[in-house]
Amino acid sequence: MSQSATVNRRYVLAQSPKGEPDASTFRLETVAVPTPGPGQMLLRTTWLSLDPYMRVRIYETDGYMASVKPGEVMVGGTVSEVVASNHPDYKVGELVHSYAGWQDYTLSDGSDVIIKLPANAKQPSMYLGSLGMPGFTAWYALNQIGHPKNGETFVVAAATGAVGQIIGQLAKLAGCHVVGIAGGADKCAYAVKELGFDACIDHRGAGLPERLKAACPKGIDIYMENVGGPVFDAVLPLMNLNSRMPLCGLVAHYSGAGMNGADRLPGFLTEALFKRMKLEGFIIFDQYPAHYANFLAAMTQPIESGAVKIREHVVGSLEEAPQGFTELLAGGNFGKVVVKVA
Ligand SMILES: NC(=O)c1ccc[n+]([C@@H]2O[C@H](COP(=O)([O-])OP(=O)(O)OC[C@H]3O[C@@H](n4cnc5c(N)ncnc54)[C@H](OP(=O)(O)O)[C@@H]3O)[C@@H](O)[C@H]2O)c1
Repeated sequence: MSQSATVNRRYVLAQSPKGEPDASTFRLETVAVPTPGPGQMLLRTTWLSLDPYMRVRIYETDGYMASVKPGEVMVGGTVSEVVASNHPDYKVGELVHSYAGWQDYTLSDGSDVIIKLPANAKQPSMYLGSLGMPGFTAWYALNQIGHPKNGETFVVAAATGAVGQIIGQLAKLAGCHVVGIAGGADKCAYAVKELGFDACIDHRGAGLPERLKAACPKGIDIYMENVGGPVFDAVLPLMNLNSRMPLCGLVAHYSGAGMNGADRLPGFLTEALFKRMKLEGFIIFDQYPAHYANFLAAMTQPIESGAVKIREHVVGSLEEAPQGFTELLAGGNFGKVVVKVA
């Protein structure tokens, strides 16, 4: 599709889902491609990121950010090409990372651009994964909250996902004994053989607490909390004195599962107190001004050279984005999910 294209395909939120999202959650619309005014540019989406946080953004009531309302274009990080420009700082043909959402085209005055991609960017979709929000999350959580020390034990769940695959490798480079938790034998084999983790435990099998304990003979010093649920229950008793827990995500609960069970708060707080545990929740979007440039300076070379490995899970078209999203929430992805839009 060229600059002269007239049709913009876009997914809007049809209705906020109760429980897991399904085919009725999103609606595909076609509208006219807008024309840039003074100081504006027209962006064409080439890659769209699918991420678990999107489930939180379609809650009926606002979460940590304002919810997408029915009829609004679904939010999402994108890599886009400038296809027309009245903006002095952006030329036709340049690539930018912004949040254009689940659609082909959008107008921008540049204020929403996170970064202009370098002209020699090796793989533009990396700016949605390893060099984008999830990679930044991994790097920030490990270094600013986890503070790994040589010989410590580091555990991460969703270990082969967008965040997990990066943070586990960084913890290994920091000298930790790294244990992943993932859904299925293939993902666990990949974590050990390709990513270099010391062990990986399949959370879907029986006896998770015992198997995790065996893989962590010295207990756990850092747990990157990505999921919650039974994985968290298996981790908690193994946390060491003065351990750290970056509270990154709770994907097992985003659609409401397990929110009204028996009250486990007293047990959790007792562990946190007795273990002198440090738990720190964070939302990475707050950290861009202070830390994103440092992250890129530190990580671009290791990622682009392959010293830190990455795995992407490519969804083939914009039309398939809703299905790709529901699969991501159910663990159907194997790597960072990106949608090839153009
Ligand atoms: N705080 C922040 O600013 C921030 C930023 C980025 C991401 N996050 C959070 O970090 C977490 C990981 O995000 P990501 O982008 O890297 O996603 P991801 O790992 O690529 O994909 C999500 C994975 O979660 C696992 N999962 C889903 N339901 C589960 C369950 N009930 N129990 C255990 N595991 C389950 C699945 O992996 P398996 O098949 O291996 O179980 C699935 O592949 C999410 O909670 C996300 O919201 C937070």
